[in-house]
Amino acid sequence: MYSIWAIGTLVSFHAICTTAYTWPSPKLDALEAARFDQLGDNAVSAELTSFIQPCDLFLLPGNTGRSNAADWIRTAYHDMATHNAADGTGGLDASIRFPDEQRRPENAGDGFQNTMSIVPLGLTNRYVSVADSIALAALLAIENCGGPEIPFRGGRIDATKPNLPGVPQPQQDLNSHIASFARQGFTPTEMIGLVACGHSFGGVQHDFFPDIVGNLHDPNSTLNVADFDSTFFQFDNKIATEYISGTTKNPLVIGKNHTTNSDKRIFSSDGNSTMHTFANSPGLFASTCADLFARMLDTVPSNVQLTEVLSPLPVKPSVQLILDGDIIQLSGQVRLWNMTEDPTRTVRMRWHDHHGGIGNATLSFTGTSSSTGGKYAAAWYAFNASDPENSLSLDAHSGVKSLSFVVNDQLEDQDGLGFAIQDGFMFSATSCLVMHPFTGRFDVAVRNGVNPTRVYLEEISADDTQKVTVTEIDISPPTSPVFGHSGYSLWSINLTNPTTVYSIGAEIEGVKYSTTDEHLLIEFPLCSGAL
Ligand code: HEM
Ligand SMILES: *[C@@H]1O[C@H](CO)[C@@H](O)[C@H](O)[C@H]1NC(C)=O
Ligand SMILES: *[C@@H]1O[C@H](CO)[C@@H](O)[C@H](O)[C@H]1NC(C)=O
Ligand SMILES: *[C@@H]1O[C@H](CO)[C@@H](O)[C@H](O)[C@H]1NC(C)=O
Ligand SMILES: *[C@@H]1O[C@H](CO)[C@@H](O)[C@H](O)[C@H]1NC(C)=O
Ligand SMILES: *[C@@H]1O[C@H](CO)[C@@H](O)[C@H](O)[C@H]1NC(C)=O
Ligand SMILES: *[C@@H]1O[C@H](CO)[C@@H](O)[C@H](O)[C@H]1NC(C)=O
Ligand SMILES: *[C@@H]1O[C@H](CO)[C@@H](O)[C@H](O)[C@H]1NC(C)=O
Repeated sequence: MYSIWAIGTLVSFHAICTTAYTWPSPKLDALEAARFDQLGDNAVSAELTSFIQPCDLFLLPGNTGRSNAADWIRTAYHDMATHNAADGTGGLDASIRFPDEQRRPENAGDGFQNTMSIVPLGLTNRYVSVADSIALAALLAIENCGGPEIPFRGGRIDATKPNLPGVPQPQQDLNSHIASFARQGFTPTEMIGLVACGHSFGGVQHDFFPDIVGNLHDPNSTLNVADFDSTFFQFDNKIATEYISGTTKNPLVIGKNHTTNSDKRIFSSDGNSTMHTFANSPGLFASTCADLFARMLDTVPSNVQLTEVLSPLPVKPSVQLILDGDIIQLSGQVRLWNMTEDPTRTVRMRWHDHHGGIGNATLSFTGTSSSTGGKYAAAWYAFNASDPENSLSLDAHSGVKSLSFVVNDQLEDQDGLGFAIQDGFMFSATSCLVMHPFTGRFDVAVRNGVNPTRVYLEEISADDTQKVTVTEIDISPPTSPVFGHSGYSLWSINLTNPTTVYSIGAEIEGVKYSTTDEHLLIEFPLCSGAL
């Protein structure tokens, strides 16, 4: 999925609009997609969602007693629990991905290897950190397995080394737990809530906690896990009802060795009053957990500034531009939020060019996606109705300044702002390859009269800790620009790495713009006459 957007104007968007932001915004567009495009067409988190659906899935079908969904929730908590509210260190920052942190006694079990081995899964990119992905994965697990909707903010920053230890353990006493949760930023009552909310999922493994859980010999738990409640892969208040009624099998409540009955000490620490309210009201339990889970996910080091709570854009295009001779190929789709398939709906796109002209095309339905356990649906429409796989051909001289959409008779133009398109620079279809020696000539088309201060490639790579980095490689202006008929001239750079992913960026009048289309040299055609 592609978009072109202005990075430099991000800050002002919050002032204009508190509920949804104004498109385009590179980081928010990517976070919004990761948050809301969960299953179906163009779903960013589809691969991850497939690991937590069905909710009782654990690694392979046939394993019983444990669930991937629970692993994700525990991962988010253990990553966060190193937070020190007093000095602002630690928090949800993906430090749990470091083997040195996973090996600590407080992180016993194999849950973190399981989750961290798949965390990048289509979610992590230049705008969505590993830490954002962990938060999203926990949120997806909760929402898709019966839990409440959780407000999501993005912008977490990945730690570069393990945090100080600080995750509570079952054998510690109540005062230690109260102190530990206070350090993390939670009151004693919130501690009861967060433990009950988390332990609505999963259980304790015999393999890693043999002193707490004996060998179960339970055909219903091939993985030998004593679950916290009878619905360990679904969010509900059974963790509280079973505790209050005395029927609980929670191994941290009924364990023979009282030292490790931490849930019992925590749940009864206020005379059971909080657990009573949870048991009496599934709704109160759900809303309390939505708040506490959101607080847990938003607990980050104090130097990290999270975004506003993301809400879905009602109309959201994704756009890619390519200069091809005298035409601009405009390709992409538009997503209409909270809409299902409707063959009677007409969706038209209008593009406003530099000369005051307005073109239009009827778009074609391509599919639907869903979100939040099927609570929301979205319908997608492609720009070229006759061939959704293909682009619209626009006159390059006239260019394209902005888009608007007409859904049935309703104009969608972000309250008059339009959907701004940056056609000052774009990938040029003249880019090509020479095989011996392997060289790719990457051509960027720059619109005459635009005069960017810089044009550069953004080399996108992940380091060996899965953190995504972007390196800018400046392209020199052509010594003798060729002003072709198209109204664009080409800036070129020779590159030799066939597998590096490149996007294009430019600085125009002090504002940095970036495309999200990604290019690989090996996808270029051979240069004419080249061997
Ligand atoms: C005093 C605080 C806590 C203690 C002592 C504690 C202890 C434990 C222990 C011993 C396990 C078993 C892990 C395994 O067998 O792999 C576990 C599992 C789990 N914990 Fe906690 N926990 C605490 C708080 C929390 C909180 C606050 C959350 C989340 C909000 C949470 C979420 C989970 C989940 C989801 C599992 C199940 C993991 C799975 O089945 O794979 N825990 N906890
Ligand atoms: C296994 O689960 C089934 C269905 O939930 C239940 O009827 C049965 O009693 C369980 N077996 C054991 C050993 O707990
Ligand atoms: C109970 O658990 C604690 C902490 O793991 C341990 O030190 C103690 O020996 C255990 N007691 C018994 C009787 O097993
Ligand atoms: C809290 O509830 C548990 C489970 O029903 C019970 O065993 C315990 O005695 C109660 N504690 C208090 C202080 O009421
Ligand atoms: C979805 O759209 C329907 C009408 O089309 C509206 O009643 C409903 O409130 C919308 N839901 C959300 C969550 O936007
Ligand atoms: C759409 O474009 C066609 C030309 O391609 C033009 O004749 C028509 O008036 C336009 N319709 C609208 C609603 O702008
Ligand atoms: C849509 O794509 C086809 C190529 O399959 C192309 O021939 C056609 O011109 C495109 N439509 C427009 C309006 O550009
Ligand atoms: C790229 O390499 C070709 C062939 O060696 C050379 O002619 C051309 O000047 C180079 N272009 C740039 C921008 O360095």
